[in-house]
Amino acid sequence: MKFSEENEARWAEMATHYPLKRSVLVPMLLYIQDELGYLTEEAIHEVAQRLDLPDLEVRNVISYYSMLRTKPAGKYNVQVCTNISCLLRGGEEVLEHCKKKLGIGHKGVTPDGLFSLEEVECIGACSWAPAAQVNYDFHENLTAEKMDEVLDGYKRKETQ
Ligand code: FES
Repeated sequence: MKFSEENEARWAEMATHYPLKRSVLVPMLLYIQDELGYLTEEAIHEVAQRLDLPDLEVRNVISYYSMLRTKPAGKYNVQVCTNISCLLRGGEEVLEHCKKKLGIGHKGVTPDGLFSLEEVECIGACSWAPAAQVNYDFHENLTAEKMDEVLDGYKRKETQ
């Protein structure tokens, strides 16, 4: 399997940075996911082959990181943290609000494919809890009302 020209060039360039081949695994999985929308069986196998790893090891890494996925997500993947800092400051309420507003549960995708929702562990924004991540954007000090603004903002982007 070949990846995009851009990702093939990235791979070749990154491979020169590290003494161990395996070190390109996580960054390349992210780039490949951005290219394909999710990590397909074929892509996982290809990555494993190139790094001389068993497919299972690549799968284990994917299952550890909440930003990596093996199923298609919505165009805007909403990840709400409910780990301890966020939990104490209303993260579960924010998540419940998202579920109601989007009409989907954990790992669900809206019928129009615009949003997907995930409950995730700490995303490293504890000082500004409760926090959520939408694709690569962080949203912090959330309330149900702020979350409405966030989601409506992404929706508006689609109609402009
Ligand atoms: S606990 Fe939610 S960002 Fe760390």
